[in-house]
Amino acid sequence: MKEAKFSTKSIWAGERDQLAFGATQVPVVHSVSFGYDDMDEWYEVAVGNKPGHIYGRNTNPTVQAFEEKIRILEGAEAATSFSTGMAAISNTLSTLLAPGDRIVSIKDTYGGTNKIFTEFLPRQQVEVVLCDTGDHDVIEHEVAKGCKVLYLESPTNPTVKITDIKRMAEAGKMAGAVVVVDNTFATPVNQQPLELGADLVIHSATKYLGGHADALGGAVCGSQKLVDSIYHYREINGATLDPMAAYLLIRGMKTLKLRVEQQNRNAAAIAEYLQSFDMVEDVFYPGLKSHLHHDIAKHQMSGFGGMLSFSVKGGVAAVRDLLPKLKYANRAANLGSVETVVGPSRTTSHVECTPEERAAMGIPEGLIRYSAGIEDIDDLKQDLAQAFQALPAYAENK
Ligand SMILES: Cc1ncc(COP(=O)(O)O)c(C=O)c1O
Repeated sequence: MKEAKFSTKSIWAGERDQLAFGATQVPVVHSVSFGYDDMDEWYEVAVGNKPGHIYGRNTNPTVQAFEEKIRILEGAEAATSFSTGMAAISNTLSTLLAPGDRIVSIKDTYGGTNKIFTEFLPRQQVEVVLCDTGDHDVIEHEVAKGCKVLYLESPTNPTVKITDIKRMAEAGKMAGAVVVVDNTFATPVNQQPLELGADLVIHSATKYLGGHADALGGAVCGSQKLVDSIYHYREINGATLDPMAAYLLIRGMKTLKLRVEQQNRNAAAIAEYLQSFDMVEDVFYPGLKSHLHHDIAKHQMSGFGGMLSFSVKGGVAAVRDLLPKLKYANRAANLGSVETVVGPSRTTSHVECTPEERAAMGIPEGLIRYSAGIEDIDDLKQDLAQAFQALPAYAENK
């Protein structure tokens, strides 16, 4: 499997070991527990001396197939899974951090992650230092002062800012920190954080990995030692991935590269196209030369991703008028699916934050997050054009 190319791995990784009865697809094993007539064998499996399953909160064959697939796609030694992306993030941080520890991260992480940093970790006496995203000197300086974890997300949600993962991973290594990267937006198709020096890669599998907006899930990939410790926390705390969700994620991941490559193309074309509208103030997409971190993105990503955001003149009122006019987009709090999804950050990624907190993160109230689907690009462009055209009086008034 190691020598196979990405598309081949995404089809075959994790599949064969779980098949029974000549089935060609991984079965959904709903059984909560796994029985043994041989007491000695039961014991050997229970203490981990023999492969097998005991109880669904710990392991399950369908879930294991999902873990193996994401492990191989991220080029990791080990992987474990979770009920959601947030469970992956919170279980990882709870495993790695204890009272008195220090964590360094950036201001623009996903809203839920930001809440862990600002609300929950301080409550557990963990010192959290949030640096301006993209200010690499400041991040390096804070990391050098000493920290247990350096936590990055690149590109960020929703303004798609980029952090130089290789440079930051080197800084983290020198300080003895565990370097964690949320790779949800990029996917392993566009970015391989472990190759860039990260210790752990995190995913909300709910997004691009599943790709069809029908299953929640999360994953963490990295060294056997780190993943084992995070798995141990999860098996006790119980944020386990459901076997049916695991199956849907496996099925989605088989087309990951096809989907993401089309989404890369569509997002790039939409980002260019949006710049031609008077009503559009700013467009944020790492593939645009005007993007603040375009050069870093070009260096560390093999594709610029399917996510972009843009702000419109007229702020929240204009967003309220514009979005319902789109025919080929779900107005929803998700991203990465085959359908185009749009939404204001104030109701999606950063709904947990106050307007002041969003402003401090550089997220205007009129910002629209655009997750490009795999539709035909001509239809997506035409759809935006007709939506903007339906607002001429409003645009002129502003
Ligand atoms: C970058 C990123 N990380 C993590 C999450 C959390 O994932 P989940 O919704 O599966 O808990 C999200 C959700 O939007 C996200 O965008």
